Amino acid sequence: MSHLPENGHILDLGCGTGLFGNRVLEQGGSLAGIDISNGMLKQAGIRCPEGDFILGDVEALPYAEATFDAVTSILAFSYFRNPDTVLREVKRVLKPGGPFVICTLGKNLFTRAVPAYYKFGEMVGVKKIGVGDFDERYYNNAELVVLFEDAGFEDIRCRRCSFAHINLREPVYNLFRKLEPFVEDHLPHFAYNICIKGTKK
Ligand SMILES: C[S@@+](CC[C@H](N)C(=O)[O-])C[C@H]1O[C@@H](n2cnc3c(N)ncnc32)[C@H](O)[C@@H]1O
Repeated sequence: MSHLPENGHILDLGCGTGLFGNRVLEQGGSLAGIDISNGMLKQAGIRCPEGDFILGDVEALPYAEATFDAVTSILAFSYFRNPDTVLREVKRVLKPGGPFVICTLGKNLFTRAVPAYYKFGEMVGVKKIGVGDFDERYYNNAELVVLFEDAGFEDIRCRRCSFAHINLREPVYNLFRKLEPFVEDHLPHFAYNICIKGTKK
């Protein structure tokens, strides 16, 4: 949130059920969201009636050039098959000076186990959310920075960050928020998200 302009027009990629978009609206911004899942968008529309949600693939953004003050993507970038295409599209729809801010799962102890978990799910025939074909991409800080640089973003800042998703219940969320600074400083492998921001020239 701290990277986003106040009262800006914000696009959230892979907006899901509008959890993050709701925060944007609470802080006075206006919100557009795109997601490839109609079911997710239905929930987003219920949570954020003021939001402008579109069904689509983030690799072909259905918006005109220089439409948004900022673009965000929370825990969705790991599903995007062609990240360089997404970055190019984001740059096109951002206004000059606008930031692209991502929070995504990083390469670490936790995500290294995910492919094995998926495979196990397939072996035992469990087809629930999170168990199926493995098709996610995890990055380390340096890889994300290179993607942003190659796409021409400037003023890039990248760090390992929280594991407290805003969907957690209050007491757990607050506890995690208290633990995070210690984990980020002393146990970086357990701070399994990466937050990166880059600005369009
Ligand atoms: C783990 S959910 C995160 C949702 C939301 N950002 C949040 O933090 O609660 C990932 C979302 O990305 C969406 N998604 C995955 N690939 C996509 C694509 N290529 N284009 C648009 N949305 C996509 C999924 O449908 C899903 O809603």
